[in-house]
This record gives sequence, structure tokens and C-alpha cells, in this order.
Amino acid sequence: MCGIVGYNGKNKAVDILLDGLSKLEYRGYDSAGIAIRDKDITIFKAKGKLSNLKEKLANEKLKGTCGIGHTRWATHGEPNENNAHPHISNDGNITLVHNGIIENYQEIVEKLKRHNYKFYSETDTEVLANIIDYYYKKYKIGPIDAINRTMVRVRGSYAIAVMFKDYPDEIWVARKDSPMIIGEAKDGMYVASDVPAILKYTRNVYYIDNLEAACLKKDKVIFYDLNGDIIQKELKEIKWDLSVAEKGGYEHFMIKEINEEPDVIKKTISYYTGNDKIDFAKSNLNKEDLKNIKEIYIVACGSAYHVGVCAAYVIEDLTRIPVRVDIASEFRYRKPILNKDSLVVIISQSGETADSLAALREAKNAGVKTLGIVNVVGSSIAREADHVLYTMAGPEIAVATTKAFSTQLIVCYLLAIELAMVKEQITKKEYIELLKEINTLPTKVESILKDSTNTIQKLSSQFASIHDAFYIGRGLDYAISLEGSLKLKEVSYIHSEAYAAGELKHGTISLIEDNTLVIGIVTQEYIAEKTISNLIEVKSRGGYIVSIAPKNIDTSKASNFILTIPETSKYFYPSLTVIPLQLLAYYMTVSRGLDVDKPRNLAKSVTVE
Ligand code: BG6
Repeated sequence: MCGIVGYNGKNKAVDILLDGLSKLEYRGYDSAGIAIRDKDITIFKAKGKLSNLKEKLANEKLKGTCGIGHTRWATHGEPNENNAHPHISNDGNITLVHNGIIENYQEIVEKLKRHNYKFYSETDTEVLANIIDYYYKKYKIGPIDAINRTMVRVRGSYAIAVMFKDYPDEIWVARKDSPMIIGEAKDGMYVASDVPAILKYTRNVYYIDNLEAACLKKDKVIFYDLNGDIIQKELKEIKWDLSVAEKGGYEHFMIKEINEEPDVIKKTISYYTGNDKIDFAKSNLNKEDLKNIKEIYIVACGSAYHVGVCAAYVIEDLTRIPVRVDIASEFRYRKPILNKDSLVVIISQSGETADSLAALREAKNAGVKTLGIVNVVGSSIAREADHVLYTMAGPEIAVATTKAFSTQLIVCYLLAIELAMVKEQITKKEYIELLKEINTLPTKVESILKDSTNTIQKLSSQFASIHDAFYIGRGLDYAISLEGSLKLKEVSYIHSEAYAAGELKHGTISLIEDNTLVIGIVTQEYIAEKTISNLIEVKSRGGYIVSIAPKNIDTSKASNFILTIPETSKYFYPSLTVIPLQLLAYYMTVSRGLDVDKPRNLAKSVTVE
């Protein structure tokens, strides 16, 4: 969604805000704006990417040491300068940036119009500025009262940073459901939607909870609850190092993060295993908890949902426990039938995706045990789930997920193996063999990157101008083809579909014509023959078949081009096949000259419904 940042301290705010926004641009890039407070508050906004705003500020001499900034992903009101943040109240008393959506903003507009407020933009955010102003003037009790009354009055999600004209050396913040962290450093106080925006300045952060507010002074921060009482918060240290939030010499974050996969897979495996054992104690998930689980629901969005589809095949096969996978935006409204001894697993890189968070709360309200598989430490899903298994992918900047996806797969494999052992569905020998094999995955991914990157780059340039592509496979190969197809769509804007190979002849094969690109994934030996004959059917109708398979499966009869991957356990092939799929999507996008890291209309984490 949008990204907000704020600074109040000793240094010039403009550089800190622009730097912070550049680290948040993956959250939205429809427009950007800042408000700097010197004697007065000066606002600058620009449509489009942050670079347009930077251009506008190039000759400005802004000395102010207090300011707020915003990068937008438009929901209410088209992407233009008028709708860009910061927004101000009618008389400029309030200046505000906002990430989230105010659901009852129209009703509040009508209320405020009855009090002679006028509106210049189409946004729900301008309403926030005016309703805070309204309460501030009506009750004359000060910022915290005006903000708390507003939090009671509005419905929706928000993280806001506010400057009151009457309080020159303060930035006020508040949140509900949208992410926000507050950073503390010797040179001042920081607020941001995500860690990368302030990691350069401090590792010491506070996590502010829902319906809480805070006042950032130049040298301290004061927290308030909804009654306006002062509350204490614990300062936490962020362990990520800054370099991961930089491109490190790569052209794009996506290709950098793909090349980080061997390392983060290794980190995630070693975080949960050692001495031939899996240990989930860090997430207080003990054997007893696992033993009593009779069924599992996996709920997520986007690529995280595809991890769930892969995990379902592995968990069911290893543990013989039924697994149902749901898209979070469906799960939260379909009144799922949840049994007491089931486990609801929410997978989310950001830990802030609104539909996944709502699905988690739905499961908790039903009294069912919940487990979050999350990458961002301290995120809402991580804090609200009964148990959390963190993935060790580090900050992921590119909008299209790659390394977080791979670490989520690893955590699901480990969950499946541990469950199967606790449920005595596998022997200790099989348990150790699977762990041994999982520890070979980082090297195997490394060899794919080393051996195939150039090949895939050349192959991709061949298909730069296609309009359609198809991904097919059976079983786990079908599951991972879903991700391959989404990855291509997300970044290259090429229309693509993923299909269970056996399903093609029931309709979609009619779309195959000469040189239609079909990616065939063939790793599951027990059904490889079937998939190969489906590929031959497609090839005979003119399809151009690129197959991804290990050496021990011969797809030559069915393929125009073969990408060979190392052999591994049938359960772990998604971790190997996804690499060529990610590289293909990346290089096809580069050869179309598109912005790989910030694909149009997308955002890294969708914190609104
Ligand atoms: C989308 C991202 O906004 O959200 C996808 O672009 C991601 O890459 C999806 O898979 C779900 O996000 P999360 O953070 O819940 O895994």
C-alpha cells in the first residue's frame, strides 16, 4: 500500500524523508509528497515516481528539521498531484500523511460539510485531516484528544503522521491495522511504514499497537492509549543489516533477491534444524501441539497462497492429515467450518496483508489454533498469531516475491516432516534422510543459478514479444506452475495461465497454436509419463515446449527446449523448479524494457481490502 515516513530531530529533514521514501517505493508509486516544517509548513507533491518529486525539489533550500513524507498507491481518487499526500485541513491547521483506507469517509464528509468544511481532493485522507481539525477545535483539549476521538469515529485501516500548526516541534502518529514503526536515534525520532526506510539511521525501534498514538518530539517519543493515558513501549533492536536494503551492484532488486536465495534458504534451514532434528521451540510450537492436529487450513494471498498449494501436497503425502488451501479474501467471508483440533496456517511475507490478517482473526474468533509463517519481524500477523515461524529471507524489496517464497517453502517442508514424525507416519531413518536432503537444496539452487542464468536470459529474449504463455504440470509440478505463471504476469504483463496437465484437453488446448510458449514442469517420477504425453499433445498442435526436469526424467520427445535441474526428493522439487521460473519472468521483463521492481498497479503488501 502507501509508504509513510517522518523525522523530527537535529538534521535537515528533506534528505532523510526522500531517502526513506526511496526505500518504501515498493509500497506504491502513483505520486509522492513531503511537508517540511521550518517557520511554516511547506508542502511539495508530484504525480508518478519519487524521481519526479526529487526533480521538483532539486533547487529548493529546505532547512526544516521536522517533516513527513508519503509515496502513494491510489485507492480513492486517481493518481494525480491534487490527490497526492500530504493533505491539509481547510485552514492548514492540520497536515497529514496516511497509509490505509477510511471506509466511512463519505458519511464523515457529509457531517463535516454541515460544519462548513470544503474538500479539494477525492481522497479519504483529506477527510482525516479535517475530522482531526474538527475535534481539535470543538474540544480544545489538544492533539491526543483530537486524534483519539478521530480513531473512535472513523472505520478502516490507517497509519497516520500528523503535524499540528500549534505544535511546531512535534509529529503525532497513530495506527490501526496499517503497519508503523517508530525509530529512536541520537539525532532524532523517526516514523515509517517499514524498517528499510529508517535502517540507515537506527536499529532501535518501537512497535506501536492498534488504536495507539504517539508524540515524536526531537529527543523522545511519548505513547498514548485510546483513553489518552501515557503508556510504556519496549525498545527493540532490528537485526537486519543495511546492505540487504540496497541493490548491491545488481540492476534490479528482483535479480539480487533471486541470487540471495541459496543463502536465505540455508539460513532458514539452520534456524530450525540441527543434530538431525527439527526444533520449533522458538515459536513455542511443541510436539504435543502438533500431535493433536487433525486437519490443517492454509490461508494466504498471491504467491504465498501458491506456497500453500505446494505445502498441501507435501503435508498430506507425508502426514496423511487433510489440508485445505484457501485464498484469504475468500476464507474470511465464506464462514469456514473450523474444527477445534485443526490448525490454521497463515503464510505472509509482509505479515500485514489485510485479507490474511482478517483470516487470522476469523480463525482466532473461532477458537482455532493459528500459526503464522511470516518474514517481517514484529508485523501484525506475527504478533497476533498463536505461534509464528519466521522465514529468514531478510527485507524483500522487489514487489514480486522470490526469496521469501523460497524460504516459506522450506518452513512448510520442515512443518510437514516434523508433523509426520510426531504422527509416526515416517520412521526416524526417513526423518533424517529428508533432513539430509533438505540441506542439499542451497547448493542445488546455487548450481541452477550458476549453470542456467545465461541460458535462460538468451531463451527469454526469444519470447519478449509474446502475448500468451501456459504453464503445465501434475501434482507438485502443477502447484509450482501456478507460481511460475503469476510471476510472469506480475512483472512482464504477459497474459499466462497455469494448468493441471491432465486438464488441458478439456478446453484450454484450443488456445494452443504455432509457437505458443508452454512451460512444462516434469519432476514427479510417479506421473512423469502422463505429463510428458500431455506435452506431446500440445507440441503436436504447434506449441513451443520449454520443459524443466531433472536428468533422470527424459522429456526430449516432448520438448523444444530443456532446462535441466539437479535431482532431489519428490517433495522438494518446487524449491528447484521455481528458480528457472523466476529467472524466466525476470529476463522476459527486462527484455521488454519494463520496471521489474515496481510493476504497474501492484504493491509489495496490500494492507487494505
Ligand atoms: C502482493 C505481492 O501484493 O501480495 C505478492 O505483490 C505477494 O508478491 C502478495 O505474494 C501477498 O503478500 P504477503 O506479504 O502476504 O506474502
